[in-house]
Amino acid sequence: MHMHPGNFFQCLFLFLYLSAVSVAVPDLAFQVSSGGNDNYFLRDNVTSAQLVLTSPDNTLSSVRRIVFALPGGNTGALATTDDFQNVGAQADFTFSGNATLGVIIIGAVRAMRDYVEGSGTMHEIFNYTLESYSSTFVHLHRQYINTTFQNSGVFKGSDAHFLVTPRAIPEETEGNSWHRTALKGLADGTNSAAQQVSFLTYADKFTAGGWRFLTYFGRDSLIALRLLMPTLTPEAIETALGDYASFININNNRSDLGNTPFYDYKVSYNRLLRNLLLLPSVSHYFLELPKGGRQASLQNGTYADILNRIANYNLQRAIPFSQKQTFSNLLAFRPGEPVGNWRDSNEGTGYGPIPFDVNAALVPASLRATQSLIGAGILMASNSSADAGKVADVWEAKAIGLFEVRVQRKVAEERLVDFVSQVGLDKSLLEDVSFYALSLRSDGSPVEVMNSDLGFNLMYGINVSKTFLQYTIDALTPYPQGLLTNIGMVVANPAYDANRTNVHLLDRTAYHGTVVWSFQQGLMAGGIARQLGFCSPNNKVFVQNLRDAQGKLWASINGAKDHIFSEVWSYSFNRTTNQFDIADLAGLSPTGTESDAIQLWSYGFLGLLDPSGVATSS
Ligand SMILES: *[C@@H]1O[C@H](CO)[C@@H](O)[C@H](O)[C@H]1NC(C)=O
Ligand SMILES: *[C@@H]1O[C@H](CO)[C@@H](O)[C@H](O)[C@H]1NC(C)=O
Ligand SMILES: *[C@@H]1O[C@H](CO)[C@@H](O)[C@H](O)[C@H]1NC(C)=O
Ligand SMILES: *[C@@H]1O[C@H](CO)[C@@H](O)[C@H](O)[C@H]1NC(C)=O
Ligand SMILES: *[C@@H]1O[C@H](CO)[C@@H](O)[C@H](O)[C@H]1NC(C)=O
Ligand SMILES: *[C@@H]1O[C@H](CO)[C@@H](O)[C@H](O)[C@H]1NC(C)=O
Ligand SMILES: *[C@@H]1O[C@H](CO)[C@@H](O)[C@H](O)[C@H]1NC(C)=O
Ligand SMILES: *[C@@H]1O[C@H](CO)[C@@H](O)[C@H](O)[C@H]1NC(C)=O
Ligand SMILES: *[C@@H]1O[C@H](CO)[C@@H](O)[C@H](O)[C@H]1NC(C)=O
Ligand SMILES: *[C@@H]1O[C@H](CO)[C@@H](O)[C@H](O)[C@H]1NC(C)=O
Repeated sequence: MHMHPGNFFQCLFLFLYLSAVSVAVPDLAFQVSSGGNDNYFLRDNVTSAQLVLTSPDNTLSSVRRIVFALPGGNTGALATTDDFQNVGAQADFTFSGNATLGVIIIGAVRAMRDYVEGSGTMHEIFNYTLESYSSTFVHLHRQYINTTFQNSGVFKGSDAHFLVTPRAIPEETEGNSWHRTALKGLADGTNSAAQQVSFLTYADKFTAGGWRFLTYFGRDSLIALRLLMPTLTPEAIETALGDYASFININNNRSDLGNTPFYDYKVSYNRLLRNLLLLPSVSHYFLELPKGGRQASLQNGTYADILNRIANYNLQRAIPFSQKQTFSNLLAFRPGEPVGNWRDSNEGTGYGPIPFDVNAALVPASLRATQSLIGAGILMASNSSADAGKVADVWEAKAIGLFEVRVQRKVAEERLVDFVSQVGLDKSLLEDVSFYALSLRSDGSPVEVMNSDLGFNLMYGINVSKTFLQYTIDALTPYPQGLLTNIGMVVANPAYDANRTNVHLLDRTAYHGTVVWSFQQGLMAGGIARQLGFCSPNNKVFVQNLRDAQGKLWASINGAKDHIFSEVWSYSFNRTTNQFDIADLAGLSPTGTESDAIQLWSYGFLGLLDPSGVATSS
């Protein structure tokens, strides 16, 4: 969606357009500026919409863009009318100069992303027709693929300039109000973070984030759920867990069992990961959270059956490694699929198909959760002879060792010196270093990139070793030696990799490179707090070291406090101050990958407490 040439425009107002005659006051209306864009969010009982405008003061991009995105149906456009009795959104703009319309896409948000991120890829299925036009308006029209609904866009130009979104699918209204009270303690709706979470959560789905991800991503929703659990009401938790059941129904052609919104087709490959994330959350909910004494029981029927199936599936997948501990029995991405864990860019795991988080954290955590849920009589024991607890023992003891990377002090020093010069940093103190690899290659050799996925073990694991905690302490040291900058924790640090290609592959311009993902900070912070709860008080020195690391992590997080609810950001290194400044990733990324202004799993911070007492939810 682009406006040419570089004329600046300003959004005067945006309101929900409910019918030809009445305009309701929206339940939610707020604005967030991020990454050179101004985002306007609206939601009421009929529709919700996000409008993204290139900020007038954005100097990085010569392209001026308007995006309308609607979570209902995950569709959107650049388009308008007040002549049609449709659900949608409408905005008035004032232009500071002549503007010529460039590319216009009407249809699925996925189609818009393919255009923006896929160097202009267009799908002809989203072609639209020029319905009518005059000297003051242009009406573009597109039929939904399934023909029930239509998308229309009308641009009107006279003294006032109108832009209205296409037909949106009304949100299910029944039960749609729980979102306002989903966050305990933030329920009056005036807290801006609570409003942002509200925009993303619906009675029938938890969407993943601002305009590019206004759809159900099981993975994001489940991680967000786990982080937010301390602040969510039981109803909201059960909705999110139930969401996943609907999603499975849909993938099994049983959409009659759940709601049928348009789910993003690209994420369905990822079921294994979601299955692994689900059980620890279920176990945490039933067995660890007080939640006002809710009965720990699952009704017989669809949901219990699904959980039993998932638990059994996960167990079966874990058995081979428990019998023979070789890398080839670990869980790898499917051949030909470059992605499969949360680092879903092609180079995200340094091209290693055997990811750390899945194997070292999530498989053992899922097995332990299964064991606990069976022990509590909530799940049925599997019919196979395998015992989830025994299989977990082996995974916990053996899988992580395969990811261990040791670099001799001298070599580490050489690589670090080389690294700081290659990526333009300053020399810093050097020590021997050990860490866990980002992934394993197909031949079992480690991708020697220090990374933040330790957080998954800390947050999901119940039997994390002291060695592991020591590696965590080591990783929570200043970047480029460790992961911490003054503006947050980077998710990858390739400084020590023997393969120097990775220094550039995973640099500050890469989506999963030396960049800060807020939810990863949340996992790390939440995970350390969780593990401190398990630590024996006898081990005073060690526990203090872990607390010190926790303090450093929070200092790093608070260095970019204003950004923690956005998705991802990069840095620029300031040679005068020797400090890192926040840099917009879209401006650096060769593919223009942009950060979301609001991203559900980043709100995990609402479930966390900064031990120094600084509230993150203000
Ligand atoms: C939405 O709320 C308005 C009042 O604000 C009401 O008039 C309207 O009927 C509601 N629409 C639906 C579909 O519930
Ligand atoms: C805008 O376009 C109109 C019609 O083409 C032209 O007369 C006018 O000079 C243009 N204004 C500017 C500021 O370029
Ligand atoms: C879609 O538009 C392209 C480019 O104008 C055209 O080549 C193609 O035939 C159109 N497809 C359909 C199905 O109308
Ligand atoms: C088309 O999609 C909408 C939105 O999901 C749905 O409500 C409608 O039933 C679908 N129509 C057909 C014919 O499948
Ligand atoms: C669901 O239906 C589609 C289309 O009929 C088919 O390709 C797919 O294999 C089915 N999936 C399952 C899990 O049965
Ligand atoms: C569920 O079904 C199983 C097997 O039929 C039975 O043993 C169990 O008691 C039932 N649980 C509940 C809560 O009804
Ligand atoms: C075990 O087998 C019985 C009978 O075949 C089946 O009903 C039950 O669902 C199975 N349990 C699990 C956890 O697979
Ligand atoms: C933790 O792991 C150890 C070593 O693998 C094992 O002996 C122990 O039973 C586990 N503890 C729990 C609580 O699962
Ligand atoms: C080094 O890394 C690059 C990029 O990940 C990869 O293409 C190449 O095969 C690696 N080289 C070796 C020797 O592993
Ligand atoms: C570096 O930081 C100093 C002090 O805050 C600031 O004046 C300067 O503009 C910064 N340099 C760059 C390149 O941003």
